[in-house]
Amino acid sequence: MQMMWKQRPVWPPGPPIPPIPPRKPVRILAVSDEESKFIWEHFDPELFRGVDLILSCGDLKASYLSYLVTMIPAPLLYVYGNHDGAYDRNPPLGCQCIDGAVTEFQGIRIAGLGGCMGDDPANPYQFTEEKMEKRVRKLQSDLRRSRKLDILVTHAPAAGVGDTSAFHQGFRCFHQLYRDNVPTLHLFGHLHRQNHHGPEARQGVFQVGATRAVNCTGYRLIEL
Ligand SMILES: [Fe+2]
Repeated sequence: MQMMWKQRPVWPPGPPIPPIPPRKPVRILAVSDEESKFIWEHFDPELFRGVDLILSCGDLKASYLSYLVTMIPAPLLYVYGNHDGAYDRNPPLGCQCIDGAVTEFQGIRIAGLGGCMGDDPANPYQFTEEKMEKRVRKLQSDLRRSRKLDILVTHAPAAGVGDTSAFHQGFRCFHQLYRDNVPTLHLFGHLHRQNHHGPEARQGVFQVGATRAVNCTGYRLIEL
């Protein structure tokens, strides 16, 4: 006996789906390590018009960060540098700490890891490679639902990405984040740009695979 197959119904084509508009670029002011006289003493609002987000990579006075959020109508997210112990008593007002956390801004996923290489027990913002690796693993478990990271904000650089002396040594475990979570941008500070070797490196911009690592000492204006 010949089997008769039921014909599948043909669904009418629905209304056309409008294309998803491309995301508007986010303008970021990234700051680190040196309070810029250009900003603090000679602030020109025109130059910072259109800034959507301020990111601090650490080692800046709390009053400077509070000043930035007062002058620029944008949220400020920060991590600790190794000299920011005073934030505990006098935190930057109107700013949000993202140290050890993952957050989102306008669909951009941002994670923060402050502190630098060291093992001074009196300084809670110094970490050995092993301790920082634990923090990276914790961050990666928080990121597991969506592993892609847009911006990684740290105080110290990754090992071999513009780091110098033992004290200004970068963390090897940050390469784990480069490899697994592929941040588009890695913003860091801790080193003065003139400490980088070679004219290109002195620009403080390094390409590591798909990640652009940028030394934000002073300030940087970046679009993403
Ligand atoms: Fe530092």
